[in-house]
Amino acid sequence: MTVLSRNSFVIPYQYSVYFTHGVFSPGNPLLAEVLEQLSPALNPLPVMVVLDAGVQAAWPDLQQNLRAWFAQQGEHLQLRGPILVIPGGEPCKDGFAVPQQILTEAWERRLCRQSHIWAIGGGAFLDAVGLGAALFHRGVPLLRFPTTVLSQNDSGVGVKNGCNYAGGKNLAGVFAPPLAVINDSAFLTTLSDRDWRSGIAEAFKVAIIKDQAFLHWLCQHAHQLRQRDLALMEELVQRCAILHLQHIQNSGDPFESGSSRPLDFGHWSAHRLESMSGFSLKHGEAVSIGLALDLQYAVEIGLLSAAECRCCLAGLRACGLPTDHELLRARDENGQLLILSGLAEFREHLGGKLHLTLPDHLGQKIEVHEYDVQVVEKIVTAMDNHNDIGETGCGK
Ligand SMILES: NC(=O)c1ccc[n+]([C@@H]2O[C@H](COP(=O)([O-])OP(=O)(O)OC[C@H]3O[C@@H](n4cnc5c(N)ncnc54)[C@H](O)[C@@H]3O)[C@@H](O)[C@H]2O)c1
Ligand SMILES: [Zn+2]
Repeated sequence: MTVLSRNSFVIPYQYSVYFTHGVFSPGNPLLAEVLEQLSPALNPLPVMVVLDAGVQAAWPDLQQNLRAWFAQQGEHLQLRGPILVIPGGEPCKDGFAVPQQILTEAWERRLCRQSHIWAIGGGAFLDAVGLGAALFHRGVPLLRFPTTVLSQNDSGVGVKNGCNYAGGKNLAGVFAPPLAVINDSAFLTTLSDRDWRSGIAEAFKVAIIKDQAFLHWLCQHAHQLRQRDLALMEELVQRCAILHLQHIQNSGDPFESGSSRPLDFGHWSAHRLESMSGFSLKHGEAVSIGLALDLQYAVEIGLLSAAECRCCLAGLRACGLPTDHELLRARDENGQLLILSGLAEFREHLGGKLHLTLPDHLGQKIEVHEYDVQVVEKIVTAMDNHNDIGETGCGK
């Protein structure tokens, strides 16, 4: 073999996640300080602001507050064009309409590679806008302002952007770290109850495989979390986001080129359930059901005690999250459980060999390479017949 030229380089990535309350309030210095630290190359810095229509509806004064905030910053910043409002939620990730709209608007506003795009919204919206930002001029700096529990503790603090395509969840996307992430807990106060609860599932996910103390904390505070205690939710978001960030930083594989994907625990069935339900199940709800299935599987193959599993299921339920769904028992014309195609999709995605993360006692994980469909049959049938786990929590 003759190597003509070896091209090897490393790009250091660095971004911070900030936690605040009322980021655009006149007395809040955080954002101006963040921008100063980032020391943008342009003066004035052109910024295109993109807003999730769901957030706009819940915060009718937000546009005005944003414009006032920009006006206060003087010459350094330039809000380029009107604030762009785009309907959020899962439909905005369906195909490339939103990334395309970002490209068109960024082009018409004459943004350059040094300009900023600021995206304010939920996880689906951030995924789609992030893809557009990553494509424009091969990538412009993106400041994320996640506005849901799930996007503040999971999706919005990570490095993935993307859309659903041809029926494939997140089929088309890029790894593109944001410039910074600003988690403003005030946004959480206007979420629907379902969206408030949905993001809690991702906290259980990461706690079950990485942090037993956090898991017990979740179970202990489940009722108050469900009752929308904001201070507790702020703590949940922070602890969960930090676990995610630590994973991205320390796993040695931030862009998931290897096969191991622990943060996808519970997701093989969750992604399937989301699409089988026509996305009437929210991502976090589907994750909660997916966790329940994998937890019970872990008991069946001897990784987890029945008591450990009950503790997690009770915690999820006490938070108001589902741990079962009739779609788990939906079958094709050959009598095969439809969710099992989720396993095939995961296998395909990773090049033919299955890699799934399961808890190996609470707070630890193990990777498995097979998943016994007979055991799945047994679990989903038993769930149907005997679904009486209380909401007592694990008591620790
Ligand atoms: N990129 C990743 O790494 C990653 C990880 C996990 C999940 N995800 C994706 O995240 C998406 C789910 O995100 P989500 O749970 O944030 O839901 P979502 O983005 O679908 O938002 C839910 C609804 O809440 C509205 N909304 C957003 N903020 C609001 C606020 N503050 N007040 C009132 N309404 C508000 C939205 O307009 C939307 O209608 C899924 O598409 C999932 O695949 C991505
Ligand atoms: Zn998820």
